[in-house]
Amino acid sequence: AEAYPKVTRKTDFKVIDSTDLNYFHSILSNDEILEAQSSEELASFNQDWMKKYRGQSHLVLLPNSTEKVSKIMKYCNDNKLAVVPQGGNTDLVGASVPVFDEIVLSLRNMNKVRSFDPVSGTFKCDAGVVMRDAHQFLHDHDHIFPLDLPSRNNCHVGGVVSTNAGGLNLLRYGSLHGNVLGLEVVLPNGEIISSINALRKDNTGYDLKQLFIGAEGTIGVITGVSILAAAKPKAFNAIFCGIENFDIVQDLFVKAKSELSEILSAFEFMDRGSVEMTIDYLKDMTFPLQNHHNFYVLIETSGSNKKHDDEKLNAFLSSALESKLFSEGVIAKDHADYERLWTWRKSVPPACNINGGYKYDMSLQLKDLYSVCEAVTKRLDEAGLIGDAPKPIVKSVGYGHVGDGNIHLNIAVRVFTKEIEGLLEPFVYEYIASKKGSISAEHGVGFHKKGHLHYSRSDIEIRFMKDVKKHYDPNGILNPYKYI
Ligand code: MLT
Ligand code: ZN
Repeated sequence: AEAYPKVTRKTDFKVIDSTDLNYFHSILSNDEILEAQSSEELASFNQDWMKKYRGQSHLVLLPNSTEKVSKIMKYCNDNKLAVVPQGGNTDLVGASVPVFDEIVLSLRNMNKVRSFDPVSGTFKCDAGVVMRDAHQFLHDHDHIFPLDLPSRNNCHVGGVVSTNAGGLNLLRYGSLHGNVLGLEVVLPNGEIISSINALRKDNTGYDLKQLFIGAEGTIGVITGVSILAAAKPKAFNAIFCGIENFDIVQDLFVKAKSELSEILSAFEFMDRGSVEMTIDYLKDMTFPLQNHHNFYVLIETSGSNKKHDDEKLNAFLSSALESKLFSEGVIAKDHADYERLWTWRKSVPPACNINGGYKYDMSLQLKDLYSVCEAVTKRLDEAGLIGDAPKPIVKSVGYGHVGDGNIHLNIAVRVFTKEIEGLLEPFVYEYIASKKGSISAEHGVGFHKKGHLHYSRSDIEIRFMKDVKKHYDPNGILNPYKYI
């Protein structure tokens, strides 16, 4: 992993001393504090998921209650100790790891479901509940968590809300800005601001909770989440198909919306390179199609009547084959088969991240969505950087959420080099700005896109963001050195 470029430690932040440690020991039990002589010993808290960044923190606090988070924040604010909040640390933009010696505030021990109301579907939990566990709990209560992600076994509910992640079913259930009903947040000065008991509708003035959704822990620490769970669909199905070009991917999307309508719940695409990497990664699994194609699409349906849904999907499949929208397609035979088809999509990110890599997460109009991947891949290829070892890049690939106009461009590397970086940036951002897209669709800004907000936000928007940061965190102790 690279050291952080272009930043120096702020001298007005205090260096932790024995008085501070004594204080933390006075409010926390031994299993809520991890201290180390070297940051190496705390590598899993210091190192990011993409293996790009590595902080040097020697102290991790893992409080098990909101009151303790509040005491920690008040103390840190009074003493100018910098803090980085951390959930499952699956963040993809260097937002959840320290840069220097910031205290890591892990929400891992706040892992209880608080309540569930099966009539309204309101689910309340601590921020540190692992998404997989939220899914399991709701599944057992005939509901589903309205968001799913490839990192579901590690990511936390609070972290996902802090990131405003979109996931695989946004097309059906909408974004967290709509699904989150209320939040409990500890502010940098230790005050607790809570809308966790909010109802479905609440129009009493500014909707403050929205600011914390996607703020990446820069203005408060989310400790509790109230979210609207959907009723569990009784029937799921999926098709996986091979398509020759991205124009046809769009035609198929239009057809799916119109013919599958209310049962359509995901429309994901992968390019040839991302599937090739996944075939290598899933060595022991048989690929569902006979031939190779330039694009692959996974379409999911979920509804309340298996017979009705399967009939619809089968009719869709035959008519798409007939009108030559795709050359080859398979429908899941049973639930295990459905899970297997999803494995081909959910395994793309880990397949591209074996030695680490560069990742860009962008929104564009659908007609332009894949063009950014073509432009970048061409540029890296012309520089002779992609291919077998010793070339530094294994592959440059694109995949993502067609329904959300969101592409993930992944450059899987053997080593990180300055030459690759120089070719990627600012090229990628300038390209996105030229097409009026967004440089972050769902992964956030973090450290990676620090200084780049202007490619997607106006000066006045950035000024307002800075005002918000100053208002909530006047000492700047919360998740410092990141995008704001
Ligand atoms: C995905 O869509 O797979 C997620 O955003 C994660 C990723 O791209 O790494
Ligand atoms: Zn995604």
